[in-house]
Amino acid sequence: AALAVVIVAAGSGTRLGYGVPKALVPLGGAPLLLHALRGVAGASVARQICVAVPAGDTELGGLCRSFAEEYGPDAPLITVVEGGATRADSVRAALAALEPGTERVLVHDAARPLAPSDVFHRVADALERGAHAVIPAVPVSDTIKSTAPTEGDAAAIAGEVVTGTAVREQLRAVQTPQGFDAGTLTRAHELASGWPEEQAAGITDDAMLVESLGVPVYVVPGDLRALKITTPTDYVLAEALLSAEGV
Ligand code: C5P
Repeated sequence: AALAVVIVAAGSGTRLGYGVPKALVPLGGAPLLLHALRGVAGASVARQICVAVPAGDTELGGLCRSFAEEYGPDAPLITVVEGGATRADSVRAALAALEPGTERVLVHDAARPLAPSDVFHRVADALERGAHAVIPAVPVSDTIKSTAPTEGDAAAIAGEVVTGTAVREQLRAVQTPQGFDAGTLTRAHELASGWPEEQAAGITDDAMLVESLGVPVYVVPGDLRALKITTPTDYVLAEALLSAEGV
């Protein structure tokens, strides 16, 4: 089936503390987006890669074009679109630029530059077996609690108080690429496009939109190497993983 991979690379990366868009931050000498492009192309699952870049960007777009040239005639079609204010806006912009006849879509964060081919294959295979939505995930090692801001006198003790503890065995940390049949993902994003800003800000992945349609979202094993680079600590870990691989 015709499969496209959307790479969302339109984030600012302010939490990483570099003065450039996160996808341009170098890891082992190459920008995050270049690692992500190599990973997606190397998995050989996509006939099109559509990259959402920040508004006004020229560098990331240029990087995509030179990647396509470097890759040669076997390269998938590489399309560059301007992303939006939120991740979901960026996904929507990319979905609008997919080739007619695209049946399946994998959405991948540029901020997960070391996601191995196996993860792409596990997600694509589950779609092949009939899933309409599939996500890679790993068990969590921390105990996860919900909290709320303290009020009144309690605020003098601490800023937050625990409101509950989730059962750790049932929790998963969810990664990308997340895979969908194209119709389901488009429907889910159309539904959310009218949401008020406050609600839209709470959309942290694509699967949660599909869940709200009542479509089962299947889970396949993720991989530690698909970690998302958000903080300086994540960056140090990714550098170490990269040099351990000898890439
Ligand atoms: O901000 P967060 O860590 O959730 O970003 C995850 C991915 O979404 C990153 O690859 C980032 O570039 C992308 N993103 C985007 N457009 C936005 C915000 C984030 O493409 N407006």
